[in-house]
Amino acid sequence: MSLVSAFRELFEPILTELAADRAKVPDYLAMIKPAANADHGDYQANFAMALGKALGQKPQDVAKAIIAKLPPNEWLESATVAGPGFINLKLKSAYLADRVRQIAQDTRLGVTPAAKLRTFVIDYSGPNVAKPLHVGHLRSTIIGDALVRILRFCGHTVIGDNHLGDWGTQFGILIYGYKHHRDEAAFQVDPVKELARLYIHVRNLAKVTGEEDEGGGEVMEACRAETAKLHAGGEENVGLWKKFMPACLEMLRPIYDRLDVKIDHALGESFYNPMLAAVVDDLLAKGIAVESKGAVVVPNAKGVVPQNDEQQAKEEPPALIRKRDGAFTYTTTDLATIKYRADTWKPDAMLYVVDARQALHFKTLFANAKRWGYDNTEFQHIAFGSILGRDKKPYRTRDGGTVELSALLDEAAKLGLQGYEASYAERTTHGHEVAELSPAVKREIAETVGYGAVKYADLSGNRTSDYIFDYDKMLALEGNTATYMQYAYARCRSIFRKGEIDETAFHAKLPAVVITTPQERALVVQLLKLPEAIESAATEYLPHHLTGYLWDLAKAYSVFFEACQVLKAETPELRDSRLVLVDLVARVIRQVLNLLGIRTVERM
Ligand code: ARG
Repeated sequence: MSLVSAFRELFEPILTELAADRAKVPDYLAMIKPAANADHGDYQANFAMALGKALGQKPQDVAKAIIAKLPPNEWLESATVAGPGFINLKLKSAYLADRVRQIAQDTRLGVTPAAKLRTFVIDYSGPNVAKPLHVGHLRSTIIGDALVRILRFCGHTVIGDNHLGDWGTQFGILIYGYKHHRDEAAFQVDPVKELARLYIHVRNLAKVTGEEDEGGGEVMEACRAETAKLHAGGEENVGLWKKFMPACLEMLRPIYDRLDVKIDHALGESFYNPMLAAVVDDLLAKGIAVESKGAVVVPNAKGVVPQNDEQQAKEEPPALIRKRDGAFTYTTTDLATIKYRADTWKPDAMLYVVDARQALHFKTLFANAKRWGYDNTEFQHIAFGSILGRDKKPYRTRDGGTVELSALLDEAAKLGLQGYEASYAERTTHGHEVAELSPAVKREIAETVGYGAVKYADLSGNRTSDYIFDYDKMLALEGNTATYMQYAYARCRSIFRKGEIDETAFHAKLPAVVITTPQERALVVQLLKLPEAIESAATEYLPHHLTGYLWDLAKAYSVFFEACQVLKAETPELRDSRLVLVDLVARVIRQVLNLLGIRTVERM
């Protein structure tokens, strides 16, 4: 149980007794927060102000009355009123020492499963296949993977689904390219490579650069015609699509492997194609969709289908689900997907980890799904901002092209290893642990440090903001970076090696924890806050609560390490107690990084 929930349990009966409106009690309990300033205590309760207002009494009096009602307990050192009615709460050090030893004996580090276990479907990654993965897909993959790991750790059932764009205009490009420009011998030898070449070749011929589907002259016109034939079920094009798909999926695999990402399902847009006509018919039959000028639309939230330009300008658009030419849309597919997921997995919640620029699509989609009958499902657009370059413009290669993900990861690994080797060389000359690194170890370090840096940089800001992609910053040895956390972890581990401690024996008979300094105490309080950090990341779907937690932990650890001798502690008991803390810091860092999809190495 987290510290904050222990406080909530303590105050709940008192608040229930005092509050005129019991429905408000959960809100009051949410007003118990970690203290901003450790001098005032460990936690602070701010509910006396709201309660005083509701009761028409002075908050300070209410605070005093609440404190007077606190039952005798073993763990609270003091509860005092401050300012207009804040209650400062301080825990007994002996209690903290006990608790921290308990979590050190727990493989889950004190994190209990969520009170209410739910089933989630998480829609993430979702690249448009048949073209090389680029930086735009990175965020969805990284954030989605972190959420899967976090929610699973909380005990929830999580189904990950990769909603591949495997039915779009890019196949028209490939089919056109294959028909007119292929190198058959090359295709036989390496279809992945030949398709990637054809994709780029045709786009160069058409002189299109961005992601946009419009324009591109005659060549693109011909490509779009090929797509239309595919969608109409034309035998030749469907045959080519089937021939290309394995190669397209093969293009993705190495990237997911490098990122340590395994997605349970990959039911792409093509999977839903046979279901789309029935979705439109059902929506029409239920009166949710209507025909408008030969197309089928779902009216907007106000029930309006704009009929003229003036209305169009001020109304939210309706959702187009069947175009005049009979073609279905992204929305039709997403509605079919919701039905399939609901029927198959009966989830409590569906989360969509998709670029913030699709906000309107999801807002409309969710509203329409609810009208269609999925009103007991929680739908969330887990939106994220763009990746920008140092110039604050969309991140591009030096010559203005899109950044391919494989090149980005290559660079991160290269720089990760370089940084490591530089600091390794420095430590070697200082006569610390020296060992020649084998090529396998080097690769392990390059990937752990390099990819870890990329992931952490992505996850450590609030996901809704844009973030600036900067190798130097993300690989910095100091600051809130994966590299810093990985070093902190390795340093903790090296203490055990240096002290030649038999870890099995140490864990089998875990020493007692004694708190003798404010730095030890602060570190212990921070270690005990892990369940709270995980809970807030899981309930708000915000992984940066975990990086924020790690940053605070790393700071508390470095203050502790400056102030307190570990191996050379004054007494053997103190040394053992501090080793318990060092070991726990390492395990917490490793666990939290793992929830973010980031690995650690034992020596750095
Ligand atoms: N393929 C889409 C894109 O690249 C993302 C898919 C998101 N998921 C969904 N169910 N719409 O924009």
